[in-house]
This record gives sequence, structure tokens and C-alpha cells, in this order.
Amino acid sequence: MTKVTLTVNGKSMSGEAEGRTLLASFLRDTLGLTGTHIGCDTSQCGACVVHLDGKAVKSCTLLAMDADGGTVTTIEGMANADGSLNTIQQAFQDHHGLQCGFCTPGMVMSASALLAENPKPTESEIRHYLEGNICRCTGYHNIVKAVLAASGQDANVMAAE
Ligand code: FES
Ligand code: FES
Repeated sequence: MTKVTLTVNGKSMSGEAEGRTLLASFLRDTLGLTGTHIGCDTSQCGACVVHLDGKAVKSCTLLAMDADGGTVTTIEGMANADGSLNTIQQAFQDHHGLQCGFCTPGMVMSASALLAENPKPTESEIRHYLEGNICRCTGYHNIVKAVLAASGQDANVMAAE
């Protein structure tokens, strides 16, 4: 076992990890941050997306020990300081961008990374960026609307589903 220390959502957190422990499992099972979901652990679904050193990553594709010393933001770190939903989370709620919610943490983390890179993405850019995130409830239309709204654009420009 190796000690892994990360700055997670602004706090230093440490735990022991085996050489094979995935970052996603370390966050959930060792640090207790179960908002990061594991839908496949084969890098297909995007439910496990977190930000590592400012970049969106699928945390099931990285070993915890390889992230040692890094700065991680998970869905638990996305709310505003007063605990209210941030702009992206609120837009998902307002535009019904979630059904069962399983994919939602990864969608929000990916959407946040997109908006940091491209503050006013087009519908097609949003769809392209979120290609690595699967919604098994197939609520893509409203997810894209939510991301458009979170970027301050009129979500009603999208054609009806
Ligand atoms: S759990 Fe990581 S991509 Fe599915
Ligand atoms: S809301 Fe159910 S998987 Fe996306």
C-alpha cells in the first residue's frame, strides 16, 4: 500500500492505495466522496469524470498513485460556498437535464470543463464535447439545453425533441 495525498475540493486528503487502485475507487471508497460514480470502469461512460489539475479526466482510467500530489475537484466541490447549486447544476435542474441522475456528476464535471475552455459553445460543440458521457436514460436533449442555459445562451433556440 502507498500513501496518496490529494488536494480535493480545496482540502488536503490522504489515504492508502494499492498499486492497482483506480482514482475513482480511491475517491469513493477511501475518501468517502461517493458523488463520483462508476458506471463501467472501462473508460466508456463518463460517470466518473472529475477535474485533475484543472482538466476533465475519467477517474477510472487513472491509478490513484499516479494522481498523488494533484488537485482534484469532484461534484461535491461544485456547489457555491453557501451550499446552493452552482450555475451549471441549477441549469440542469431548471431544464430537466437529469432523470435517474446517475450520469449527472460526470455530465456536470464535463460541462464545467467545456465552459471553462469555451464559454459560449454552440449546440454542436456541446454535443461533441459530451460524446464521452453516456446517459442511459437518454436525456441528451435536455442536458444540451442545460449546458446552453448555463453558458447564458437561450436554450429555447434548440428544436423540440
Ligand atoms: S466509470 Fe469511468 S468511464 Fe465509466
Ligand atoms: S439521467 Fe439517468 S443515466 Fe443520465
